[in-house]
Amino acid sequence: MAGNWKMYKTAGDTTAFFEKFLPLVASATDRDIVICAPYVNLPAAIAAVSGSRVEVGAQNLYWGKEGAFTGEISGPMLTAIGCKWVIVGHSERRQFFGETDATVLKRTQAALEHGLLPIVCVGERLEERESGSTEAVLKTQFDGGIAGLTPEQFSKIAIAYEPVWAIGTGKTATPEIAQQAHAYIRGLIVEKFGEAAAAASRILYGGSVKPDNVKNLMGQTDIDGALVGGASLEPASFGAIVNH
Ligand code: PGA
Repeated sequence: MAGNWKMYKTAGDTTAFFEKFLPLVASATDRDIVICAPYVNLPAAIAAVSGSRVEVGAQNLYWGKEGAFTGEISGPMLTAIGCKWVIVGHSERRQFFGETDATVLKRTQAALEHGLLPIVCVGERLEERESGSTEAVLKTQFDGGIAGLTPEQFSKIAIAYEPVWAIGTGKTATPEIAQQAHAYIRGLIVEKFGEAAAAASRILYGGSVKPDNVKNLMGQTDIDGALVGGASLEPASFGAIVNH
């Protein structure tokens, strides 16, 4: 169960969030709980979760180790402060910051090389769904962004299926629509990495996940977790989602 804070909260807000959030999820010991915070809030988040089962992730990374790349943050910088996870290829990065399947693959490989666990995002836009090309889009994103990993690398990633039309819109995919896409993605994994890898892999759903719809989504066979934006900003709502 992963929260994506996007560009919200200061360091002070971050500390205040975890003071309330950690007691709420203390008994959820059978699931991974991750908050992906803005870069500058990572130290505050990592300090706050110390001694708990909650882990911290970044929302992006650059694929180089170091160098003249003004404004960028590398994998080794993230691991050095105790960051465990990183979101790669979120649709907002694809839409506003020129992310492509090729750069998704490079970032994912760099994350793994430096010991980070990537959450790799895929998902179709509204016009793609309406024109019936959802599966073709997912296949292109999988082939270009994920299939180039070795089986060993693949075993460490989580995939997040996030239909772009459901992100921040309040329009959640119905559990059936989400399940269909998840099953399709698992099929792509079977073809490329085999049955065992597909059964072991974690595919998260993202897009307007809320306390009142999480249970039905998580009840679907191929939905293994959630990547939560807006509803991860409040301790009570993300706590309810984690504990669903
Ligand atoms: P949302 O965002 O839950 O606010 O729809 C999900 C995401 O973009 O990861």
